Amino acid sequence: MYQVIARKYRPQNFSELIGQEHVRSTLDNAITQRRIAHGYIFSGQRGTGKTTIARILARCLNCVEGPTAAPCGVCSSCLEVTGGNAPDVIEIDAASNRGINEMRELRENVRYRPARDRYKIFIIDEAHQITNEAFNALLKTLEEPPEWAVFILCTTESHKIPTTIASRCQQFSFRSVDFNQLVERMRWICAQEEIQADEEALAVLAQSGEGSVRDSLSALDQAIACCGNNLQGPAVRDLLGLYSLESLATVTRALEKSDPSAMLEVVAELESSGKNLQHFTRELARWFRNLLVARISSGDTRLIAASSAEQETMRAAAAQFSEDDLTRWLQLTLDLFGQLQYSLQPRFHLELGLLRLIHAGRLKAVEEALKELGPAAVTPPPRPDPRPFEPSQPSAPAGPPPAAKPPSPPPPSNGPLKERLRAAAEALGASAFTLDALDHADVAQSPGGVEFIAPRHHLLALRGRHVGEALAQLLGRAPRITYTAGGGEPLPDAPPPKSADDEETLQRALAHPGVRRFQEVFPGARVMGVRNLKE
Ligand SMILES: Nc1ncnc2c1ncn2[C@@H]1O[C@H](COP(=O)(O)OP(=O)(O)OP(=O)(O)O)[C@@H](O)[C@H]1O
Ligand SMILES: [Mg+2]
Ligand SMILES: [Zn+2]
Repeated sequence: MYQVIARKYRPQNFSELIGQEHVRSTLDNAITQRRIAHGYIFSGQRGTGKTTIARILARCLNCVEGPTAAPCGVCSSCLEVTGGNAPDVIEIDAASNRGINEMRELRENVRYRPARDRYKIFIIDEAHQITNEAFNALLKTLEEPPEWAVFILCTTESHKIPTTIASRCQQFSFRSVDFNQLVERMRWICAQEEIQADEEALAVLAQSGEGSVRDSLSALDQAIACCGNNLQGPAVRDLLGLYSLESLATVTRALEKSDPSAMLEVVAELESSGKNLQHFTRELARWFRNLLVARISSGDTRLIAASSAEQETMRAAAAQFSEDDLTRWLQLTLDLFGQLQYSLQPRFHLELGLLRLIHAGRLKAVEEALKELGPAAVTPPPRPDPRPFEPSQPSAPAGPPPAAKPPSPPPPSNGPLKERLRAAAEALGASAFTLDALDHADVAQSPGGVEFIAPRHHLLALRGRHVGEALAQLLGRAPRITYTAGGGEPLPDAPPPKSADDEETLQRALAHPGVRRFQEVFPGARVMGVRNLKE
């Protein structure tokens, strides 16, 4: 009968295990020193050896030559544990035996001496599924266990084990198994099975398990079933629904060249070959994550589950980008993965998401952008859009040097524009109010649009239709208009004098290197207000 590889190659003693060295050596010592606990909790990721080690421990304890850390493997006790029919090793699947009755039976059973062997060993798999009541019954037993009883609770969710139970057990947490160890293990198994597998195939299979030995071995089974006894990387990737490094690299190249159409090609290609778009996104996230790690580390690293050759490829790809870019792309791809889970239009979502990556890559750090601008590049000096600094607060002319100047917009654009505007508005039939407001306003033109700065009580009149139309007439298009309260005359509703606190906050804001830089690049920029984000 065909036996799946994971079962066929279930380690029968400590030396056959990969990973979990900490569990191995602690148990080994405990057995050698005859310090056997009555309760153990084996917790951790699925398929990493919990049940396997529980059985090895049972063999160690009950081997005729034992207790020994190296069970003989040939006595009836050893053989029966392997076969699953040892009279004194009781395996309970808590997923289906989770209730109080089962635990009562178990309690009853514990009271009797082992039928033949030294210990009576209860291996409770999926222990987190036990009901609370049943845990209580178990607790009674754990509180006063007979000398021969050993409980091994295996679980993927140790937080679900009540602390009353946990505190009476020795806990071991199982770790996901290292990529290289997995590759070696599979290479060895393939040799036993007379299967040829190339490096890439082994790497892909090892990756696919994400640290779970069982999952990787199941994938190996699947690959053998499908490809026979010659396993090659691309075929295995295909089988597992993974994407060739090539398609991931295409995304990277599209990013390098900021090429949206190449991005859309990737999606079209995936669609036409019937690939799962969400899986692709997950692989892409992994890819960016690996690139990021490759960018940060100098040589081969354990942090990337990939062969040396693949890591080399990744390092080369990563070198084209900044850490910032890679971080941003990873974040965006993870977000996209989440969105695709619920999307009714995964294709469009993916297209949009990939295009966004291109744009996100073009973002620069503010610092960098400011540096590039340089004061010389800014002629005529544009007025800053005051909105980043809380616009609603009328700006009481602020204290210190650059800010203290009354708003005096750059004369060249102001004088003529304001006069022409007044004339045009008048011609369009603007009211006396509006014209008065214009007389009291400063008008500043910048590439971003037109800004009116006027005492607060004049702002409303400036928002009227005539001013807008007049501007459109003069400029040949409707500009974006911003209105800012302020101006030479004291404001009718000026806020109470600033408190010492406000003053201090303002001083600190002005001393901030970012603000200083901004003022260097945009001479004449004023701080209109400082908002305390904690409020
Ligand atoms: N550390 C390991 N070393 C070698 N093989 C392992 C290891 N862990 C798991 N395996 C392989 O995976 C198979 C499943 O392992 P096991 O049943 O011990 O996993 P588990 O941790 O109990 O998983 P689950 O949480 O799903 O019950 C084993 O038969 C064995 O082939
Ligand atoms: Mg198990
Ligand atoms: Zn034995």
